[in-house]
Amino acid sequence: MIKVRDLIDPTDFSTDEINEILILAQDMEKNPERYSNLCSGKILAALFYEPSTRTRLSFEAAMLRLGGRIIGFSEPNSTSISKGESLEDTIKIISCYSDIIAIRHPQEGSAKRASLYSDVPVINAGDGANQHPTQTLTDLSTIQNLKGRLSNLTVGLCGDLKFGRTVHSLIKALSRYSNNKIILISPDELKIPDYIKEEALKNTSMEIQEVKSLEEVIDNLDILYMTRIQKERFSSEEEYLRLKDSYILTKEKLKNAKDDMLVLHPLPRVNEIHPEIDLDKRAAYFKQARYGMYVRMALISKLLGVI
Ligand code: NCD
Repeated sequence: MIKVRDLIDPTDFSTDEINEILILAQDMEKNPERYSNLCSGKILAALFYEPSTRTRLSFEAAMLRLGGRIIGFSEPNSTSISKGESLEDTIKIISCYSDIIAIRHPQEGSAKRASLYSDVPVINAGDGANQHPTQTLTDLSTIQNLKGRLSNLTVGLCGDLKFGRTVHSLIKALSRYSNNKIILISPDELKIPDYIKEEALKNTSMEIQEVKSLEEVIDNLDILYMTRIQKERFSSEEEYLRLKDSYILTKEKLKNAKDDMLVLHPLPRVNEIHPEIDLDKRAAYFKQARYGMYVRMALISKLLGVI
């Protein structure tokens, strides 16, 4: 049983605890009626200071499917934040009203800061370009469900590895399973930050290779994780326009991939996966979004201590 606490970084839970969450999520998907009142009387606060579709709505759907209720905002300008209220004060107040908080914020470290001022568990739903641990739970759940394992995998992470918080969290999580190999595919300008690489490699011997060309490595991959070039984090529009179409996955490129390779993407996609791929059996990104809801149901239940 996980003690009541926060999820700020993907390694805040041990691999055994993550396994418990993945197993519970599978059961919630199979037997939803068993869990439909688990969180009755509980309130989730969804505080979204940045745009979101999947993450916010899947948190909300998760809580509703557990019989709980939701408060929150997706337009911070309509709250006292526009009057100059600090994050710390907002969190202190909202933790009086709710039993658990999910927060997305443009500043790196903001979820950690929030957790220091909250009396209830805080879930990091994305802090700037830093981490996105619930997307990682989603990704791990997808890989476990569709591949049957989280080890012995060659995983290609492709696109904006500099600003893409989903890859920062995923690489850290995958480094804790045995015999995984990571191939980082990005232009020089969008390489993964050194601090992320160093943290991920701290306690492991996981092999990491860095390349620029997707075509060069696609035939080796068990998983291809495509990402969006993170327009909102560029300081120069010109630089974004130059890099935005660095990688576009097409049917032609997929021809060289293994027959059972999975194509994942946290979504939203812009141009990086051609819609013609959606019908390919290797395309798993829409299923991935669905697994995300069940894994958030499992996470909320564990953090609330109701299971
Ligand atoms: C991601 C995010 O917000 O970091 N989206 C998501 O949560 N599914 C990826 C992205 O926005 O590119």
